[in-house]
Amino acid sequence: MSALLPAGPKVRYGGDYNPEQWPREVWEADYAAFDLASIDTVTLNVFSWATLQPAEDTYDFALLDAVVERAVAGGRDVVLATSTGALPPWLAHRHPEVERTDFSGRRHVYGQRHNACPSSPVYRRLSAELAGRLAGRYAGTPGLVAWHVGNEYGGFDGGCWCDLCAAGFRDWLRERYGTLERLNDAWNATFWSHTFSDWEQVVPPNLLSEHWRGPDHTAFQGITLDYRRFMSDAMLANFRDEKERIREHDATTPVTTNFMGMFRPIDYHRWADDLDFASWDNYPPGQREHARMALAHDVMRGLKGGAPFWVMEQTPTITASRDVNPVKRPGVLRLWSWQAVAHGADAVLYFQMRQSKGACEKYHGAVLDHAGRTDTRAFREVAALGAELDALGDAVLGARTPARVALLFDWDSWWAAEMTDGFNRHARYVDTVLAYYRATWQAGAQVDVVPQTADLAGYDVVLAPMLHVLRGDVAARLEGVVARGASVLASFWSGRADEDANAFLMDAPGPLGPLFGIRVEETDSAEPGVTNPVTLGDPLGPAGGPDGVVSQAGLVFEVVVPQGADVVGTYGAEFYAGTPAVTRHRAGGGEGDPGEAWYVATGLDDAGTAWVVGRVLERHGLVGPYADVPDVELAVRENANGRFAFVLHHGTEPVDVVAHASGTDLLTGRAVTAGEPLHLEPADVVVLREHRAL
Ligand code: GLA
Ligand code: ZN
Repeated sequence: MSALLPAGPKVRYGGDYNPEQWPREVWEADYAAFDLASIDTVTLNVFSWATLQPAEDTYDFALLDAVVERAVAGGRDVVLATSTGALPPWLAHRHPEVERTDFSGRRHVYGQRHNACPSSPVYRRLSAELAGRLAGRYAGTPGLVAWHVGNEYGGFDGGCWCDLCAAGFRDWLRERYGTLERLNDAWNATFWSHTFSDWEQVVPPNLLSEHWRGPDHTAFQGITLDYRRFMSDAMLANFRDEKERIREHDATTPVTTNFMGMFRPIDYHRWADDLDFASWDNYPPGQREHARMALAHDVMRGLKGGAPFWVMEQTPTITASRDVNPVKRPGVLRLWSWQAVAHGADAVLYFQMRQSKGACEKYHGAVLDHAGRTDTRAFREVAALGAELDALGDAVLGARTPARVALLFDWDSWWAAEMTDGFNRHARYVDTVLAYYRATWQAGAQVDVVPQTADLAGYDVVLAPMLHVLRGDVAARLEGVVARGASVLASFWSGRADEDANAFLMDAPGPLGPLFGIRVEETDSAEPGVTNPVTLGDPLGPAGGPDGVVSQAGLVFEVVVPQGADVVGTYGAEFYAGTPAVTRHRAGGGEGDPGEAWYVATGLDDAGTAWVVGRVLERHGLVGPYADVPDVELAVRENANGRFAFVLHHGTEPVDVVAHASGTDLLTGRAVTAGEPLHLEPADVVVLREHRAL
């Protein structure tokens, strides 16, 4: 999958800038401050529809002309947004169809943002028209480096359930299934007498129809799964509408929209082809989310086959939208920004350059506060990072991550597993994926996060946590991985459903059964906090006997019957005490060592997950040099300029490690020697340009 990235001399630095909120004198002060902070890129026009089009037949670009001119005059590169993420009041007043009907079936009235009905012909026509007019006017503007379509697609309730969407859903279903017979079959419609005899009988699944309690409680997973796919595609159509119109005027400038990392409502894999490059907004839910952020960066990098992505937004200080909004501690902005670069970001941008004067984001962090001060801690940290990025220049641009591990991330599995009654509502998809990712991350192995349809040929290890839904030939491709001597690891609830979310008429884990050499006979569940001790020990380990740990497993306990697999972990309690909780099936390998298929039938704790993942990585020599140092991250990028090892210390205490390679720290200029101590203060960052082996 090819990506088209904005060219540039360095890692871009800047962010969302909304000067239309302030008088011109303030603009001058802003640009003077931007100079102090090495700001090279501003994102303009994210929410200006009402100003650009004050009435249906009137467009007015005077203010935006001035905003763009000032940015260009100041030598800034511009990311130009299309402003279609928030509706103008006149539009909703004149055409109420542009407002969404929510999951409870309530038709909304004007307000908020990110809430246009994606199926509204009026919205589609006018948003595309605005994008076209903007492109006609600003294409070719010096310094225009990217188009930013809409904003954070998804929005309220993650979709719309109006009559227009209902009609769109029926069209989508006709396209997918062709006949009602196939639709009824996919939805297992004989259950509860749901056989549809006319397309018009199909209605969107929400609280008025198939759901109770909320979006995860549906009578028909097939219907809800298809609606999620349809809604993701409907919003993608909105993006495409605008991109097409931009392309009529501007054939070359890259087009993106800002994603949100692991965002459930939209299947970003379904969108990836349409973006020229991926970008996302990094607002972690807490202060100690370094592994989660790393995973989200890797999900984003995976969208375009490993090509660099942008961080389109992050806050310099606080977000305003949570109940409690702590400031980023000294050094944390720098650490997290370098983490983004370490995982493949070629731009690190902020929301926002100057703090809003009013409305719900007026206390949201910004590069410049309401007073426009440049002598604040936040500004100083922003400016210092800007200077570092300047000094780094083009060294890492375009660099790729040399990953030997693939992690399958799958929206269908996420959706289906979390809307399925029967097992344990506390076992969540992202928590499970993150547990395996965290173990791999701590071990210092580089990971590509890829869709289940990806080519797996180049990887030594493929992780498939909670791969609930199997599509296409994924089982055969995973078998292929093991057949060539590599390793696959899956967790509980994998291989449970086909792409219609129907069970396979065979033992779990369905078509994955032969690969893992097991069958799952029962699935037990427990409340959070209830644990079952799982003794992990490799029967083929160094001493020929157990060398493992005891893991307190929780939430899900599958009762596994080996069908050729070795037992690596056993439950310690319940009627299934002594039966397998973790298995390994050796197979294939041709002339060399056999491949291994590991199955983890329960929710191991972090220590247990680390033990299992460690065994798998060790076998392929993929455990990194800082694996034993908690909170020290190693991320690697490579390009024609060399190999760059980013060593990031997320811990709160200083630590001394042993340098894994010789090279030069590009941030400090200090020489680092392999095997020598490397001292890391909390929040320290080393960008080691490794000396090439002679
Ligand atoms: C999102 C939006 C921005 C702003 C920030 C605040 O990422 O795209 O417009 O609302 O959140 O954190
Ligand atoms: Zn709608």
